[in-house]
Amino acid sequence: MTEIPEHLLNRSKARRAEASGESTSDNTPAVATPAASAAPAKAKEAPAPKAVAQDPAYVVAAKTRKKIPFWAMTSLALLPAWAMLYLVALKPAEKVVAGPLSIGAATYSSCAGCHGADGAGGAGRVLYQGEVLKTFPHIEDMLNFVYNGSQKYVAAGLKVYGDPKREGGAQAPLSYNGNPMPMQGEKAGGALTEAQILSVVCHERYTISGADPASQEWKPEFDTWCSPDSEIFKALEAGTSTFDSIEKDFAMLAVKPGAVGTEARASIAK
Ligand code: HEC
Repeated sequence: MTEIPEHLLNRSKARRAEASGESTSDNTPAVATPAASAAPAKAKEAPAPKAVAQDPAYVVAAKTRKKIPFWAMTSLALLPAWAMLYLVALKPAEKVVAGPLSIGAATYSSCAGCHGADGAGGAGRVLYQGEVLKTFPHIEDMLNFVYNGSQKYVAAGLKVYGDPKREGGAQAPLSYNGNPMPMQGEKAGGALTEAQILSVVCHERYTISGADPASQEWKPEFDTWCSPDSEIFKALEAGTSTFDSIEKDFAMLAVKPGAVGTEARASIAK
């Protein structure tokens, strides 16, 4: 509570006395009675305290309270700039390498429901621990199968997909509980672009099934198809070429045995 200075109390007392015609005989120094406690008794005798020119308590409070120091204004003025910096920092950092393997890892989420997050299988065949590499020693054949799906193979009259000399027996379409592998390529009725197909196939071969990109066996394939510097991948992603224009007779949509020209596919034809 704000103390009212004594000289103000005295002055108001004098004014009040003048107004009511009394003399200021009572000039005992005004005891600093808090106005509120003295008011009820005196209010009836001297009902004109409104004439006193005194700031109400809230004005006094406003005038005496501490203000925001001037130097703090600079910090306040910089708040919007800081907010901008904050927003910029919130944006995810740009990926250093957005090559087939990182795109493929993201695309694989649409396969994981059937093949398992780690490729252990489920509604779809086992892919991990080299299994998918046994089926498809050549990446072209795997691209073709994933692009078109089992039913196109059946419709084309093919008894086998992948390597007919597969260790442990060749894979026949619809031989896994009779379930089909759904077609994935856009032009075959699926949802994936060719760059995504290549990426997810690279992910399954190198990340899930464990082909070693540095090994003598896999390095040529990796460099050609799956490395971030792969010209084929870059061209597919940029939309400047398609599977069929990359390799003569690739015939991605044709599902013809031997179309890719690998030994495995050629032998299916016989
Ligand atoms: C609806 C379930 C389902 C989904 C989704 C699915 N697959 Fe399959 N996949 C299968 C089935 C079933 C087979 C076995 C096909 C057969 O026997 O004809 C299979 C087989 C395969 C094979 C052959 C494996 C081998 O060694 O024989 C590959 C490769 C494959 N899928 C890749 C993929 C990729 C890549 C995706 C995601 C883009 C995917 N699959 C999404 C069910 C699925």
